[in-house]
Amino acid sequence: MKVFITRRIPQEGMKILSQAGVCKVSLWDSDETVPRAELLKGVAGAHGLLCLLSDKIDTEVLDAAGPNLKVISTLSVGFDHMAMDEIKKRGVRVGYTPDVLTDATAELTVALLLATARRLPEGVVEVKNGGWSTWKPLWLCGYGLSGSTVGVIGLGRIGMAIARRLKPFGVKRLLYSGRTAKSYAAEVEGEYVPLDTLVSESDFVVVSCALTPETQGLCNKDFFIKMKNTAVFINTSRGAVVNQEDLYQALSSGQIACAGLDVTTPEPLPTDHPLLTLNNCVVLPHIGSATYSTRGIMAELSANNLLAGLQGTDMPSELKF
Ligand code: NDP
Ligand code: DGY
Repeated sequence: MKVFITRRIPQEGMKILSQAGVCKVSLWDSDETVPRAELLKGVAGAHGLLCLLSDKIDTEVLDAAGPNLKVISTLSVGFDHMAMDEIKKRGVRVGYTPDVLTDATAELTVALLLATARRLPEGVVEVKNGGWSTWKPLWLCGYGLSGSTVGVIGLGRIGMAIARRLKPFGVKRLLYSGRTAKSYAAEVEGEYVPLDTLVSESDFVVVSCALTPETQGLCNKDFFIKMKNTAVFINTSRGAVVNQEDLYQALSSGQIACAGLDVTTPEPLPTDHPLLTLNNCVVLPHIGSATYSTRGIMAELSANNLLAGLQGTDMPSELKF
């Protein structure tokens, strides 16, 4: 069977595929995104596709693959880059990588929150450029978690892992919103509240929901207006959950205190983007799951998902949709 992989992936995954001896692998042998024309060429006649979150898997790709295609395995937990209705119509199975990246992503979210709220990037720059003249009582002050209210939008696997990590900082109230209340929220004394309540009462708003038609553009002008002027906004879900023009207005006008983003629209964010001119906005290059071991395990899991899809056996992590 023929398999196309859209990028270099960790060796752990490649080894599993070559040792299995059930498929002939062709790979876009680069660390950069496969050009669309090469994706369409590479996938032609494939039985399996191993893709990344940056590959748009739409009707055109599915048509290019043709009727052989049995399985798409994405090296991600997010699946908003795939046309799920079309995939379902064609009876193609989908594998993804939940759970194995939860800890790494939650850890990065906490790091980003602290870096943003306590202004670490600004401080590092001041040390290097000579702006550090003496210890100053009014200089580079930020916001602390102790006694605060944290609001998590989307208390799923990652949201819950973030909440577990933040509670021991002395968080007083942990609010969350989503489509349904979660019984497991009791562990962090989470209060299920309407989104408006979360937005207006939180000192830290953390977005960790999936990108769906309902969450697209959720964090917009109306949303930021309801936030406290001293509140910190963190997004490690998907860039499209945020209206970036409205976020820029909120940050530059002092409507909210600061923002930390691991995800943007587009990715990469152009270096002349207005958000990058702001001292109170910390932007990271989508590195939530980027630890060596997590990426290795994600590659293993996506290889095993792919093999199961090719062979018609149970997948370790099959997306049910
Ligand atoms: P889960 O499916 O466990 O959690 C997703 C959460 O989104 C659910 O709790 C769900 O709430 C919530 N949600 C869905 N619709 C809405 C809505 N309309 N309003 C509010 N919340 C909603 O997924 P994970 O926690 O594993 O991953 C979450 C997302 O994080 C991924 O989809 C991906 O986009 C992103 N991610 C980013 C990474 C990075 O590198 N920055 C790394 C890994 C993931 P409910 O259950 O109530 O429907
Ligand atoms: C995902 O898995 O969805 C992340 O965005 C990258 O790990």
